[in-house]
Amino acid sequence: MKLIIPASFLALAAGVSACARHNEAPLAMKKRQEIKPMAEWAYEASFNWGRLDPSPQDYALCQTGTQQSPIPLSLSNGLSQNHLIDFDYSPSVNGTFFNWDYGLAFTVAHEEGVWTENPSITYDNETVYLAGWHIHAPADHSVGGDRSKAEMHLVHVDAEGHEKAVLAIRLDPGNSEDAFFSQLPAAIGFNETEKTVVTTLDHNLALESVFYFNEFWTYKGSLTSPPCHEGIRWFVARQILFTGVQQMRDILGASTYSARAEQEVWLHSINE
Ligand SMILES: *[C@@H]1O[C@H](CO)[C@@H](O)[C@H](O)[C@H]1NC(C)=O
Ligand SMILES: *[C@@H]1O[C@H](CO)[C@@H](O)[C@H](O)[C@H]1NC(C)=O
Ligand SMILES: *[C@@H]1O[C@H](CO)[C@@H](O)[C@H](O)[C@H]1NC(C)=O
Ligand SMILES: [Zn+2]
Repeated sequence: MKLIIPASFLALAAGVSACARHNEAPLAMKKRQEIKPMAEWAYEASFNWGRLDPSPQDYALCQTGTQQSPIPLSLSNGLSQNHLIDFDYSPSVNGTFFNWDYGLAFTVAHEEGVWTENPSITYDNETVYLAGWHIHAPADHSVGGDRSKAEMHLVHVDAEGHEKAVLAIRLDPGNSEDAFFSQLPAAIGFNETEKTVVTTLDHNLALESVFYFNEFWTYKGSLTSPPCHEGIRWFVARQILFTGVQQMRDILGASTYSARAEQEVWLHSINE
């Protein structure tokens, strides 16, 4: 599969609206301030996204939604019993490694508008395709009151490219190097948001570390940044992926604060 970057992507001026967006090619990424003036939205003010000027209507869901993400989780919620995830992840995938302005990210190479050849998962009779992943620091989801140092979001879209499901893997430092992160090209720093590297990754290495989501929480949620669209199924692995200490320092070195304030649990149907 060839990496095709349509010209329209290069002309992209705005709308790289962050979490869970891998529809646009990263080459179009501009400096954070150009794309998303601080007055528009910032993680530091995530409690107030629904009321921001200049586009309060677009962001209203951030304030009024009933299934907003992230939410606090804990073992007192139990774990999912009724949703099996079937993985069809090929051993190697080409794509573009970059910094999404808040941390490391990767977009799977695909022909414009064609997602069905990407790695996929199937749950509840629905198949969705890996568009890419990005890392937040600190983690968006706390578990039992504990917050991991970072969280990786593997974003899946339907055949039309609409975001449908996110696999969330919490990241913390451990004793040994992690094989998934070892295959990344030298870390891209936070000030290198124009830099992209075409590379090949095996995502099974990350999934092996969390036993292919053998245990997880699931709930009905949203994008974790404006416009906070709902209709996203979240799967949060119970297992934590442990990186080497230097690997975590590299991950954090490429990150800036990117966790949304936790939302009240409402109509999220946790584990249902
Ligand atoms: C990745 O790219 C390389 C070099 O272009 C190519 O040989 C290989 O077949 C590609 N792999 C996949 C899984 O598309
Ligand atoms: C999946 O499809 C099977 C067969 O059509 C059906 O019995 C089952 O209820 C479906 N499951 C869900 C979660 O939709
Ligand atoms: C990133 O910032 C560091 C510290 O300011 C600087 O030493 C380094 O050269 C910068 N890298 C790039 C690619 O601008
Ligand atoms: Zn995210």
